[in-house]
Amino acid sequence: MVRGSLVVLALAASACSSGETSQEMSAADRGERVYKNVCIACHNADPSQPGSLGPAVAGSSRELLEHRVLHGTYPEGYVRQRSSAVMPQFPHLAGSIDDLAAYLAQFDRSGGS
Ligand code: HEC
Repeated sequence: MVRGSLVVLALAASACSSGETSQEMSAADRGERVYKNVCIACHNADPSQPGSLGPAVAGSSRELLEHRVLHGTYPEGYVRQRSSAVMPQFPHLAGSIDDLAAYLAQFDRSGGS
């Protein structure tokens, strides 16, 4: 798990360093970039479908993303899709939560809720 997170961190870092144009991109575009660099290691490239390890995350709220991605927790009362605790935390993505929410809001979750 630790090794997996390090690989993911390295990928995220390289994505940032090549991004002089990030100021001109929309929030959803920036979110897509983070999602495709970091999250699809486990979630599906199509967020409305389950991935290799993680469930469908289409339409995830900002609050859910903040809890899950930064703290490894869930919002109070949220009915989680999985009872496992496999997903690592990504505290360095604190500045990308709004972008991820904007990106994932573009998709409908087809497989249950
Ligand atoms: C190492 C694999 C892995 C990576 C990388 C990963 N996830 Fe996950 N994610 C999971 C797994 C597995 C679950 C199911 C709960 C658990 O086991 O932690 C999950 C659950 C979630 C949930 C909760 C879904 C629900 O409704 O219950 C959200 C939201 C989520 N991930 C978003 C993300 C985002 C956004 C990223 C990228 C920043 C990401 N994940 C990266 C494996 C991963």
